[in-house]
Amino acid sequence: MNLNKKIVLVTGASRGIGRATAIAFAKEGCSVIINFKSDSVAGQEVWEECNRHSKGNLLIQADVSKADDVSSMFKKIKDQYSQLDILVNNAGIFDESDNPTNIEAFENIYRNNFLSCVMLTKSALLLMKEGKIVNVSSVHGRLGHGSPKSIAYSAFKAALESYTKNLAKDVAPKILVNAVAPGRVATPMWGNLSEKEQKELGQAHLIKRMIQPEEIADSIVFLAKNDAICGEVLTIDGGMGLVTLG
Ligand SMILES: NC(=O)c1ccc[n+]([C@@H]2O[C@H](COP(=O)([O-])OP(=O)(O)OC[C@H]3O[C@@H](n4cnc5c(N)ncnc54)[C@H](OP(=O)(O)O)[C@@H]3O)[C@@H](O)[C@H]2O)c1
Repeated sequence: MNLNKKIVLVTGASRGIGRATAIAFAKEGCSVIINFKSDSVAGQEVWEECNRHSKGNLLIQADVSKADDVSSMFKKIKDQYSQLDILVNNAGIFDESDNPTNIEAFENIYRNNFLSCVMLTKSALLLMKEGKIVNVSSVHGRLGHGSPKSIAYSAFKAALESYTKNLAKDVAPKILVNAVAPGRVATPMWGNLSEKEQKELGQAHLIKRMIQPEEIADSIVFLAKNDAICGEVLTIDGGMGLVTLG
């Protein structure tokens, strides 16, 4: 798929992987819809950066864990563009209170990291004639486990990978659905990491460094361009999965 002038929605694009992905699509000539939840200053900054590379970019505040917010965001998208070519389900959270028996944390992570993607997909399919959906999973979802502090996180990322494959079967060949499964990416999700902390966290990878958000963005753009990959989960974990299994 030639990405020039394609219309792309990137959720959670005010920082981290979403920010890098929005900018990467703008560099391909896409009109990028930059979604964020709370940080309007950071969202505006991404919108301005995208405008340096492409035209027709739009900044939309919406909490994608809420059905009403998703509906109103898609109303704006329909009014402005009438169609959508690419959806990147990137927005997600890491909940510090995640543990094997915390029902509230399970519900929170379910809504933010899984149900949000289903609601977004439902609305996106109504505007997509042909296109691509890329879901952002995690190596925790890929392996099916992480740690007891990421039990709901791992479970719902694994669910997202299952959803990716089954949805791919349902909507191909018009729409190709894939996912990426990153290892440890240096983003604000980890808090404000010092250089020393980044180095230590990177030791979990065979590449002995954290992954940069732009490296994940590149893989998302690659999946959006490619017309032969369908129902795949692309692991970009610096070899972390091999370390865990080794
Ligand atoms: N960082 C990693 O090591 C890593 C590894 C594997 C997978 N991932 C996955 O990659 C994705 C992005 O992670 P990241 O590290 O870039 O995270 P991040 O730095 O914490 O950024 C999260 C982004 O998502 C937005 N967001 C959060 N909840 C939202 C909601 N309900 N509605 C709309 N936007 C929402 C935030 O918006 P505001 O700031 O405006 O609130 C922010 O733009 C997530 O799905 C995460 O699970 C990350």
